Amino acid sequence: MNAQQSIAIIGSGNIGLSLAKGLVKGGMCQPEQIILTRRNTNSLAALANEGYYVTDNNIKAVKRADVVVVAVLPQQLNKLLDEIKPAIKSEKQLLISVVSGVTCADIRKQLDMNIQVIRAMPNTAIAIGHSMTCIATDNGTQKNINLVNRLFDTVGVSIQINEELMTSATALCACGIAFFLRSIRAASQGGTEIGFHAADALKMAAQTAKGAADLILQLNSHPEQEIDKVTSPSGCTIAGLNEMEHNGFSSAMIKGIKLSADKAGDLYHKEE
Ligand SMILES: NC(=O)c1ccc[n+]([C@@H]2O[C@H](COP(=O)([O-])OP(=O)(O)OC[C@H]3O[C@@H](n4cnc5c(N)ncnc54)[C@H](OP(=O)(O)O)[C@@H]3O)[C@@H](O)[C@H]2O)c1
Repeated sequence: MNAQQSIAIIGSGNIGLSLAKGLVKGGMCQPEQIILTRRNTNSLAALANEGYYVTDNNIKAVKRADVVVVAVLPQQLNKLLDEIKPAIKSEKQLLISVVSGVTCADIRKQLDMNIQVIRAMPNTAIAIGHSMTCIATDNGTQKNINLVNRLFDTVGVSIQINEELMTSATALCACGIAFFLRSIRAASQGGTEIGFHAADALKMAAQTAKGAADLILQLNSHPEQEIDKVTSPSGCTIAGLNEMEHNGFSSAMIKGIKLSADKAGDLYHKEE
């Protein structure tokens, strides 16, 4: 984004605020270029002091912005789109939606206008700049897709996928954070049972999980390739691993991801 452009984040909750902070930290824009809205702005007072433009007036925010990010809950979206519709300049603005389960076409239909819409599906690691963000669109230009990639690269890693896979991306990456957290929690509970204080066990489990993920990402390796390095014949690792598999470890993860993907497709239709 150039210094003259501004971005409005409509619905500055967990995801919206994390994005705003990441954009500033990543040098994409100054706080003065970011407009933050929510209905109750009390919790944004500190950000106003840092230079962000804070308001509860969505219309004013949209009118001032080149890029509009909608980051409200799925069930809050239609009401919000109806509200901001008169302020949108469809030929000039780009609309980015992080709302789960709502297609680009759904948004254009609700707005009844042909605006460019690009969807982004981050996860809560956006708060520390380590999000996995999936990006998809059905009518965004390559230039705008590149812009959205750059925006979300300030808060982690982003990739472009086909829009029909966005619900699956929600399950694997957004819900996925919870699945891996639960695995770490379970490992730490096992650690406590075999002798470690809870805090030590949690730290050891979390750092081990981080190491495992980095082996895949940094060595461009495959999990089984790395598992082969830890599993000596008749050894303790393969014994533990097979016991977990006999109890449905991989199967539970796969079934959970499939159920989350089914549910993720339904969220939009339950309005507030
Ligand atoms: N959390 C995740 O893991 C995750 C991951 C990927 C995508 N998403 C999607 O990201 C979106 C936001 O999620 P979140 O976790 O950031 O939710 P959140 O913390 O509840 O944030 C939503 C924000 O929207 C504000 N809001 C609601 N109605 C508004 C309106 N009419 N005008 C202005 N602001 C309004 C709310 O504040 P007020 O009540 O004060 O207005 C709230 O701060 C959701 O659609 C979710 O599906 C979430």
